[in-house]
Amino acid sequence: MSGPNTNYDPVEVTPLSPDEVARMRDEALAAIASARTLEELKEARIAHFGDKAPLTLANAEIGALPPQARAEAGKRVGAARAEVKRALAERTAELEAERDRQVLLTEAVDVTLPWDRMPPGARHPVTMAADRLTDVFVAMGYEVAEGPEAEAEWYNFDALNFPPDHPAREAQDTLFVAAPGDAGPGGKSSAHSGVILRTHTSPVQIRAMLSRPLPLFVVSPGRCYRADALDATHSPVFHQIEGLAVDEGLTMADLRGAIQSFVDAMFGEGLRTRFRPDFFPFTEPSADVSMECHICRGASARPGGEPCRVCRSQGWIEIAGCGMVNPRVLIACGIDPDRYSGFAFGLGIERTLMIGHGVTDIRDTTEGDVRFSRAFGTEI
Ligand code: DAH
Repeated sequence: MSGPNTNYDPVEVTPLSPDEVARMRDEALAAIASARTLEELKEARIAHFGDKAPLTLANAEIGALPPQARAEAGKRVGAARAEVKRALAERTAELEAERDRQVLLTEAVDVTLPWDRMPPGARHPVTMAADRLTDVFVAMGYEVAEGPEAEAEWYNFDALNFPPDHPAREAQDTLFVAAPGDAGPGGKSSAHSGVILRTHTSPVQIRAMLSRPLPLFVVSPGRCYRADALDATHSPVFHQIEGLAVDEGLTMADLRGAIQSFVDAMFGEGLRTRFRPDFFPFTEPSADVSMECHICRGASARPGGEPCRVCRSQGWIEIAGCGMVNPRVLIACGIDPDRYSGFAFGLGIERTLMIGHGVTDIRDTTEGDVRFSRAFGTEI
């Protein structure tokens, strides 16, 4: 057994010697000073001020010293730790300030940037054209009437005086939903009438005559369907606007007046209109309406005139079908044809839009490409 080592002065011995404490302190201060991020500073704190840090271990050893050595060693280590602690606090404050400055710089919101990078939605040009056409007639005193797109064959054909074997009733023209007697979607079919997707807006004429008091002035914009393949001039889904007037003493002159007012309102005043005989089962007599080309005003059709793309150098553009309501249709709706007469007209909305804006491909109106819509402005 060895005796007590009287020369041993624990305060002067590693790790509590002044040199060693100073070394540990300087090492800690150097690590703290060189930490460039809060992350690095955290590592320095763990290494030099954590549970296993040399100064912490040294501090723990003080208790094991003889009493006379404790005070001095405690002071020395305590002062070193206090210095490290202060350096840590100062460096933390510096690095936090630096971090905040960076955040302000990198996450700053530039309030001068344009805010509407998501363009607002807008109504489709076909919708806008339909509204504009409707407005022209509403301004003349017409009311807006509506009918279903899945329509009974009776309204779409029979009541409009289409004979049972009329070619328009064939599957290559009409989209059928339910056969007569078949309940169909929503049980809409009856024993007498199948259900189809309406091929024109004319069935709304029948619905208006059956449900509204006379005299009657209605206009009816809406979607129609035909079994056509989509190409530059045909679309299986398109829009029409229908007009119907029933009153005592209406004549073809009233019809002409209504059509002329419509052309004046849509294409500007001064364009002539012309009627040519045509045939529709529900009007008698029937006519097709053309207006003078609003682009060349007929010049392209005259000798030496520049060619015109819009009217194909015809000078005239067909815009509508029309006629005096066939007395058989009035009778089908319970209206006395000896007392009342009526006129009707129907026109394609896409077609009117295309004529007015020089659109040459109907697919542009159906595909929903915003580059097309944008050219018409963004009316909400
Ligand atoms: N319904 C016809 C069609 O789709 C257009 C039409 C022609 C409507 C003459 C009418 C009219 O009201 O009188 O081709």
